[in-house]
Amino acid sequence: MNIDIIVKNIGKLITSKDDKKPKTKEDLNKVDVIENAYIAISDGKFKEIGTGEDYKKLISENTKVHDANGLVVVPGFIDSHTHLVHGGSRENEFLKKIEGVPYIDILKQGGGILSTVKSTRNATEEELYNKAKYSLDKMLELGVTTVEAKSGYGLEIETEIKQLKVAKELDKNHAVDIVHTFLGAHAIPLEYKEDHKPFIDIIVEQMMPKVKALGLAEFCDVFCEDAVFTIEETEYILTKAKEMGYKLKIHADEIVSLGGAELAAKLNCTSADHLMAASEDGMKMLAKSNTIANILPGTSFNLNKAYANARKMIELGVPIALSSDYNPGSCPSENLQFVMQLGCLGLKMTPNEVLNAVTINAAYSIDRQDKIGTIEVGKYADFVLLNASNLEYIMYHFGINHVNKVYKKGILVVDNC
Ligand code: NIG
Ligand code: FE
Repeated sequence: MNIDIIVKNIGKLITSKDDKKPKTKEDLNKVDVIENAYIAISDGKFKEIGTGEDYKKLISENTKVHDANGLVVVPGFIDSHTHLVHGGSRENEFLKKIEGVPYIDILKQGGGILSTVKSTRNATEEELYNKAKYSLDKMLELGVTTVEAKSGYGLEIETEIKQLKVAKELDKNHAVDIVHTFLGAHAIPLEYKEDHKPFIDIIVEQMMPKVKALGLAEFCDVFCEDAVFTIEETEYILTKAKEMGYKLKIHADEIVSLGGAELAAKLNCTSADHLMAASEDGMKMLAKSNTIANILPGTSFNLNKAYANARKMIELGVPIALSSDYNPGSCPSENLQFVMQLGCLGLKMTPNEVLNAVTINAAYSIDRQDKIGTIEVGKYADFVLLNASNLEYIMYHFGINHVNKVYKKGILVVDNC
């Protein structure tokens, strides 16, 4: 056996076992803890996981042996909902936000998403690339090894494609893997405010086929919300997207309870995201579907809104993922560790539930469960060493970066020692 790298002397290796379905109910709270463990890697994948000194038998001439110095090791974190590529920032709206002006009112006045649309249209590909790369570097330093990235700040074909191309380029050049989502239906341009139909026709008849033909996006997403896209419009767009071969996502019930969770279950979306205002019926439908509830507590924190009812969803058997929603408006932070801490402090999830939510369940929410999300033989060797001796410490000591080292596909890409 040709082993490239062995990481020995792992104090606690904490991971779930992938039992071929997302974690729900009690299973969401279960992880395996292997003490005094080692990981052996070959060709960027986990080849063997064992304990004690057994790794010695695997050492050959070219094997490198790294020492984890007794630290905790977990699977690489997966940030399965971000608006990574965009121009500009929105600190000019920050005072309004502090004064309590609602997010949707800022949007209705032509600010919010529409202000970022202007900055993104005006930015060159290079500017967008450099800004997104800076964010991706931050995410990786914080232990994130896979990121989903949406378009949605063009609202016209040229800029949507520009954003998606930048994300593709970053995926090629950066250690972090990127999963691509088309979100042309992210806001209604002011000129279509009274009549959405012509804009929806442009999305469905021009943007979606073009993006698909260029191979720029795997998923299609819609912001289904009061004053944005209605339930009927969302269903129409996503039904067409499915016919074109997209997998589906919805920004569902973020601010107003419109029935987005119900629609996501009905359309068999891969994920329904946000769900702060989801109805109990919607949660019950999600529990019966294959759709992952992707909860974004950084957004609740930043918009000063009630957190999604994660405990109710867990009780009902809904599979939950957590992600950042990194964007310049409702969550201007790349910090998934802070989001994990909010998972405990805001959503009242346990540290084990949170770990599963940002690893294996997050992998399901972007359809990557066969490749990532657990430390198991055959999966990509994406893992993180944390400056801690147990998982609870990571959630309890909030607001700092606990990462000691990050390995992506078996390569040491962050070393904070
Ligand atoms: O997921 N809700 C819609 N989209 C983003 C916010 C985007 C923005 O404000 O720029 C979200 O919260
Ligand atoms: Fe979002």
